[in-house]
Amino acid sequence: MKTFYLTTPRYYVNARPHLGHTYTTVVADCLSRYKKMQGFEVCLLTGTDEHGQNIERAAATQGTTPNELANNITKAYQKLWSRYGIEYDQFIRTTEERHHAGASEIFKRAAQNGFIYKGEYSGWYCISCNLFAPESAMAPNCEVCGRPTERVTEESYFFRLSQFQQKLLDHYEQNPNFIMPPSRRNEVVSFVAGGLKDLSISRTSVKWGIPVPGDPNHVIYVWFDALVGYLTGIGFGNGVNKENFGKFWPAQVQLVGKDILRFHAVYWPAFLMAAGLALPRQVFAHGWWLKDEVKMSKSRGNVIDPILLLEHFGSDAVRYFLLREVPLGLDGSFSYEALIQRVNSDLANDFGNLVSRTLTLISKNFANTIPYPSAFEARRALDKEIEQATLDAVKAYQGYMDELAFSKALESVWELLSRANKYINESAPWALTEDFSLRPRLATVLYTSTEVIRIATILLAPVMPESCKLVWKQLGIRAELSSQRIDQLKWGGLPVGGTIGVINAVFPRLDKKILLDKLFQASIEETPAKESKLEKGTEPEKKSSASPAVITPIASSGQQSDSGVVGNSITIDDFAKVELRVAQILSAESVQGADKLLKLMVDLGTETRQILAGIAKYYSPETLVGKKIVIVANLQPRKMRGLDSNGMLLAASVGDEGRPVLATFLEDVPNGTKLK
Ligand code: MSP
Repeated sequence: MKTFYLTTPRYYVNARPHLGHTYTTVVADCLSRYKKMQGFEVCLLTGTDEHGQNIERAAATQGTTPNELANNITKAYQKLWSRYGIEYDQFIRTTEERHHAGASEIFKRAAQNGFIYKGEYSGWYCISCNLFAPESAMAPNCEVCGRPTERVTEESYFFRLSQFQQKLLDHYEQNPNFIMPPSRRNEVVSFVAGGLKDLSISRTSVKWGIPVPGDPNHVIYVWFDALVGYLTGIGFGNGVNKENFGKFWPAQVQLVGKDILRFHAVYWPAFLMAAGLALPRQVFAHGWWLKDEVKMSKSRGNVIDPILLLEHFGSDAVRYFLLREVPLGLDGSFSYEALIQRVNSDLANDFGNLVSRTLTLISKNFANTIPYPSAFEARRALDKEIEQATLDAVKAYQGYMDELAFSKALESVWELLSRANKYINESAPWALTEDFSLRPRLATVLYTSTEVIRIATILLAPVMPESCKLVWKQLGIRAELSSQRIDQLKWGGLPVGGTIGVINAVFPRLDKKILLDKLFQASIEETPAKESKLEKGTEPEKKSSASPAVITPIASSGQQSDSGVVGNSITIDDFAKVELRVAQILSAESVQGADKLLKLMVDLGTETRQILAGIAKYYSPETLVGKKIVIVANLQPRKMRGLDSNGMLLAASVGDEGRPVLATFLEDVPNGTKLK
């Protein structure tokens, strides 16, 4: 049997998963299911990257151990994947024994082959990205995440990366699909052509890692450690599933975000060459999901919570949206409005409607039985045209899926669904139900439409596995949906005479206004510190929770302005638009039915205001009375739980959960004083 090995990155365990992490994994799962439905034996590997200084620091900030933090966050990932229907075959944690054995083995092989030597590293290092920065007099900001780097001077083992420059360039040239998409490939080629320096691959000041074989004062550089997980997860260097390594390596596709492409397209192939192992066939770099025009990341507080989405949309709608909305490789802006629009127009109107109108007509006119596409006189050219359109869609879909062009693949299915809906309108089956002599025609139209649904459901199964199973059940087909072969699809496979199942709306329409309101409430109440950040885009991304807390307005009462943002900074004029004032809390009480909210009355010197704040979990009302705090005074008022909120207060957002700590003053300040 043909095999297909594909991987996601190993996710850091310093914070809970957000939509960005969900994206890579959904893409991988969709590809894996598609390949299985093409008859491949597939291995999908994912997992967690648990070592290194960023995890050590995050644990210290959260008052826990790296091990405990890693266990908790890994569980959160695994639970999330199961709720999103991710069928991974291997989950590798870099703290597992089987991984340690394999990582040490690769290190030893590279050393034996003469590619590792001992020296001293002195230079700048980004703790968050685990990336070394070019030499300079002052600490430069990390070129990937923009945060300040730190000075590291210590004994280190070095990897002779400089010796791989030409070998890498040759490999890129001989394997034009090794780095995809092509624009990213060009970036990597110029980087490598610019010259490669040897790479420090061990640390003595970090303890949370895998010891260097034979020199336990050093731990292996976290990227070397994590990358090697692609091998150890399928049995390299350990006794677990040993036979899998020979069967699956080299990987066909390694999916990564564009921010970690260099590690995968430069360091990783060089490590493999040094150890004498084959290189993966392809590294595909996808783009970022942005929120408010900047990369979604925990430290910015602009992340979309994949669990919140599950609760309001269900996993399949989110999977569909992620794959359809943005071509793989490009950045995409997330908005709830766009998601709702996709659900209502594509899923409820186009697909859902086609299913329900077709099956309802079968139920009413053919006693729930799939009718025979009848005799010759009932056949029209139109029917043949639909058959051809279906076969064309199957072909286009497969072509695009093979190139990982998921969005285009889905577009071709939607063209077919629109064509089928049009076919029903043109054929007007409802007008054929009265006259018995028209029944052959009615049967043919309904058979044709149901056959389109059968084939579309098979094509959509990798993207929306659960919903497609429900549609499949309604079609009444006995054979398992997942056992259908996409590469062998033919027109006419629908079993006639079969009984259809109970008809239910698989994709109900969403009420945009009600849903948006619910999502807004939930975002304030569940994680008070994560929405409506004042410092839009000013904070570096990928920061570990160990970094200083961010001052965050709590309980938004208005919308952010998008104007004036240049890259990651705003102008002084933008800042001046925000009216920050000193307010004294006169009273505080809980809000019935909202256990996260407190209702505060605050004195602003010239007026008294009511503000609702999502801090009830962290502050009891009586401890707040009399405190002087900072509020954003010029936000539009809004209603929450039927109560007016007129402003928002500022708090630091601390740790992984974003615990709010109110901003206040060392000295007494008159109420209403402006902050600037
Ligand atoms: N631990 C490393 C990877 C080691 S693999 C040998 C790492 N982890 S991460 O948790 O920071 O990121 C994992 C993946 O999530 C990366 O591919 C990254 O691009 C992706 N995403 C994180 N935020 C994202 C978005 N906002 N949008 C899309 N993907 C993003 O890097």
